Amino acid sequence: MKSITSTMIESLKPLLAPRSVAVVGASRDPNSIGHRILEAMLMSHFQGPVYPINPKASVVRCLRCYPSLKSLPEPVDLAVVAVPRDAVLSVMEDGFDAGVKSFVVITAGFAEVSAEGRALQQQMLERLRATGRRMVGPNCLGLLNTSPSVQLNASFSPIFPPMGRVAMSSQSGALGLAILASAASMGLGISQFVSVGNQADVSTNDLLEYWEHDEDTDVILLYVESFGEPRRFARLARRISRGKPIVALKSGRSGSGARAAGSHTAALAASDVAVDALFHQTGIIRAESLQEMFELAITLSRQPMPKGRRVGIITNAGGPAILCADACEAAGLVNPEFNPSTKEILAKVLPRTASVNNPVDMIASAQAPQYRHCVEHVLRSGEVDALIVIYIPIGMSALREVESAIQSGVLAAKDAGIHELPVLTIVMSQPGQSGEGAMTLNDFPCFQYPEAAAKVLGRLVDYASWLAQPVGQFPAQEGLAASRVREFCRQTIYQDGSGWLGALATRDLLSLAGFPLPQGGVARSADEAVALADRVGYPVAIKLASKQILHKTEVGGVQLHLKNADAVRKAMVAIEQRLRDRDLQAAMEGVIVQPMLSAGVELMVGMTQDKLFGPLIAFGLGGIHVEILKDVCFRVTPLSDVDVQHMIRNIKGFRLLEGYRGHPPADIASLEALLLRLSELVEAVPEMAELDFNPVMAMPPGQGCVIVDARIRLEESAKEQD
Ligand code: COA
Repeated sequence: MKSITSTMIESLKPLLAPRSVAVVGASRDPNSIGHRILEAMLMSHFQGPVYPINPKASVVRCLRCYPSLKSLPEPVDLAVVAVPRDAVLSVMEDGFDAGVKSFVVITAGFAEVSAEGRALQQQMLERLRATGRRMVGPNCLGLLNTSPSVQLNASFSPIFPPMGRVAMSSQSGALGLAILASAASMGLGISQFVSVGNQADVSTNDLLEYWEHDEDTDVILLYVESFGEPRRFARLARRISRGKPIVALKSGRSGSGARAAGSHTAALAASDVAVDALFHQTGIIRAESLQEMFELAITLSRQPMPKGRRVGIITNAGGPAILCADACEAAGLVNPEFNPSTKEILAKVLPRTASVNNPVDMIASAQAPQYRHCVEHVLRSGEVDALIVIYIPIGMSALREVESAIQSGVLAAKDAGIHELPVLTIVMSQPGQSGEGAMTLNDFPCFQYPEAAAKVLGRLVDYASWLAQPVGQFPAQEGLAASRVREFCRQTIYQDGSGWLGALATRDLLSLAGFPLPQGGVARSADEAVALADRVGYPVAIKLASKQILHKTEVGGVQLHLKNADAVRKAMVAIEQRLRDRDLQAAMEGVIVQPMLSAGVELMVGMTQDKLFGPLIAFGLGGIHVEILKDVCFRVTPLSDVDVQHMIRNIKGFRLLEGYRGHPPADIASLEALLLRLSELVEAVPEMAELDFNPVMAMPPGQGCVIVDARIRLEESAKEQD
């Protein structure tokens, strides 16, 4: 039996690699979109028959025209539809009757403009589902496939880019036109290009799955404005990135910036943080601009992946090499100094004034033979994982000669058994290069500026280290009574409505879910507080319990180091008095009594719901550090064991957790377990809308961690119980 994925992939073949195509709305007017699509089909030399459809014409562009899809001599694989909006559905009905397998609907005016358009689009979708046909669009530029056996330009782009191994989907049609023009001018070879339009049926996610298995595609580029099914996207990207790099340019903001900031976590989770987190977790390489997207694509499609961060730089000019070395450092790369033996070999062909350290500055007199020698021997040194070659045309040596010298240096290193090292080039002020972005020098990506080359290499190294990580696992957490917690949350919402939980309910929920809590509990009177303090042992801390008052310290609601019952009573009276002074006595539910904890590192763990991606978990330094340093790492759930390892090691303050200047190290394993538990819990209990554990006190290794303070907000959720 075929899997769902293979059936889905099969269903896309008539769209992306059709054997016959009809252009519906093939107008006689050369300026119309329909006419331009037909023209593009012919200019790309599509390898199958093309049928223009236009009831008002008998011939268009020397081709016999048919009045409707039903009048065609054969059922076609693909119908490209460019007729006025209100005629689209009936064209599709003709297509269903005539056995057309798929559609690209260029026509605009659907869900993107009005409720009426949305209803029409929904009707189209229902008919597609009922008939098992597929559709790209509506409201799109179309699609292209450069494979010699297909050569399809089913779009109104006059540009058919060179063949290559990069597939691309764009959520913007207009930008798609510019992208195709840039790809062609930069020499970026494309395997397939799809402008997805409104994604009524075929989505970016479907294309990802198709390209995962597509033999013509090595690199996937995505221009993303919004995520249709973000959870599926995350799942697919995690898997597909392991086999093929995905480069994504995400425009706009996720909307999460508009979240109500009732917790530290929500306040810190500004704008694009969830997208960044997701890209990190799934190995997606994020491009910051169109130019960078092309540079990454060219480099990924033409060069092997670096195996480490060591970069060799060879140049004929000192300044650009220094800039390049600085940019390498900023990108997380290193430029190691060469061993004496390597320096000796390099020095053989260079004048005495040259420098054989890394960067190798061959000085302005360097010509092709010096380039060849240095490229070969830096690659053969075994001391670098990648090479950047800089050439400033100074009139001494022609670009083409240097280009072949680099090529033969690489080949000589290859003959000597050196494989798989990426080589990037920088040619500053190369004639014809007007700052348009990456081009190529032979098979080498060619940059105009050192910073761009270093940045791209840095991204590749980051991706390579993501690939080198083990595949993350999602170990189930023992003692996590998720369904009981969910029941508890639903009951609480039913009784008290949505909102922040009181201290007692917070404690009950967290113990039900098996989180590590300090001894003690909530007391409503001085007697209860003393009884609790006696039980946990002195010294104790008592803290105001209140849903309403967020910052307890500011109202004098935290009393520490209380050594006996008398001190506890006095502290309780003091808290009550301070609240009375502020007319806030009604906000006091009681006090939390805890033993004094010391010798730990204060951390924070939090969760907020991202509109697109669901629960977003934060980890960082706790206490007041959260507000001042904002040293926090976010990741979207579900968190794998690898994700939590990274979150903890990603914060700048990680050294504190390893033990610093007399401070004992922290029990990192217990923090990892806490993050995994939280991830599993919030995935299972969508009513948990927001939470802060601040501080979480991490004890020395082997002694665990405890959630000293917690706040949890519940909100009704429509999600079904699993
Ligand atoms: N079957 C076949 N052909 C049909 C038809 C039908 N049901 N209905 C109309 N036609 C023919 C017309 O006869 C005409 O041919 P002619 O010029 O030789 O007479 C041709 O289709 C075009 O029809 P017309 O009414 O002139 O439409 P148009 O060209 O002005 O607009 C679209 C059609 C699709 C371009 C327009 O509706 C549209 O959606 N434009 C925006 C497209 C867009 O921006 N897409 C997103 C890009 S990112």
